Amino acid sequence: MSEVKKNYSVEELDRMNNAELAALGTELDDVTVAYRKERFPVEGDPREKSAERGIKIWLTISVLSALAFIGVYLFWPWEPKFHGDDGLWTYTLYTPLLGLTAGLAFCALGVSIIQYVKKFVPEEIAVQRRHDGPSSELDRRTTTALLNDAWETSTLGRRKALQGLLGTAGVLAGLMVIAPLGGLIKNPWKVRHELDYHGDGTLWTHGWTIQDKGVKVYLGRDTGAIAELHEGEVGSHYSTAGVSRLVRMRPEDLAAAAMETVFPLYPEDVNDGEDYDPARDVYEHHMHSIHGPRNPVMLIRLRSQDAKRVVEREGQENFHYGDYYAYSKICTHIGCPTSLYEAQTNRILCPCHQSQFDALQHGKPIFGPAARALPQLPVTVDEDGYLIANGNFVEPVGPAFWERQS
Ligand code: FES
Repeated sequence: MSEVKKNYSVEELDRMNNAELAALGTELDDVTVAYRKERFPVEGDPREKSAERGIKIWLTISVLSALAFIGVYLFWPWEPKFHGDDGLWTYTLYTPLLGLTAGLAFCALGVSIIQYVKKFVPEEIAVQRRHDGPSSELDRRTTTALLNDAWETSTLGRRKALQGLLGTAGVLAGLMVIAPLGGLIKNPWKVRHELDYHGDGTLWTHGWTIQDKGVKVYLGRDTGAIAELHEGEVGSHYSTAGVSRLVRMRPEDLAAAAMETVFPLYPEDVNDGEDYDPARDVYEHHMHSIHGPRNPVMLIRLRSQDAKRVVEREGQENFHYGDYYAYSKICTHIGCPTSLYEAQTNRILCPCHQSQFDALQHGKPIFGPAARALPQLPVTVDEDGYLIANGNFVEPVGPAFWERQS
């Protein structure tokens, strides 16, 4: 291989046109172009127009699909519907339509790019030897020229319609990725609805907060019951009438050294014991309580010898009922359920990052990344002997956020 001249003055480089600089860059990079062929060397070739038409069709599909995705995302009815509700089918189509339109948009964009490269970028076989060292001014200039050359020979510069479509499809594809993030942005201070099992929509409310309005709240035990099969003259069907997912608890329902996860249960949703009515359907309300993100509470019955060693937190001395202590199940680290109660040590463990809390010391963290105690729910027993909450938590439940003072 003959030696390539490497020392060029700025004036000499200025005198070269783009094609000469690109050729020089190829030589300086020890690249040998073994084969190069324009796709459509003759101007006005009808096959060129047909190839362009094909790519435009793919890009148009991509643009329309992306617009359809954004339209579905913004305007399609997305609120959950349940069996028997109007609009169930429309709601059921929401997620498939998002998937279909997004998939089609990306797929069509990908096909159009592949088609463009195959149909318009010159065919070329080039061989390059590797060499070390930093890039010189000469290299940088020639590399820029090569990129310019690639842009020119790709002919994209003179295909304005394709440029527009490609740009639009690219922008919309990016929007499809970014737009759904909008759904995650919410005003955390906005009260969205009346207090219920989900609080009022703010971070510091939950199913237990309703006690602030004087409503009695039972500690509901999850029975795990599901819809029951009924046989009738018109055939068999499943029904949740008479199925109580949450039932009230009495202190004697829990053995010493045991833990039970309980959920808020409002008097109007009680369907158990002497108040049981097989025709009532409170199942959906119970499921709302179970699905409330800050509702689960661990009701722990300490062994009486352990209960003697309890260290109460100031101001929470009467939060327990005898040996019964109730702590929020939502870890104060980043909100996992602290599901493991170890009766031997009276430790509550969070499986996510191994935080441990002491049930004998007002749920104080004693190991791991959690820095705050598990909030304690005041509990007592009502006149009928059922366990009820004796007030609201005195601090927000769950991980830290800016409103939290403790
Ligand atoms: S969420 Fe419980 S330790 Fe991290």
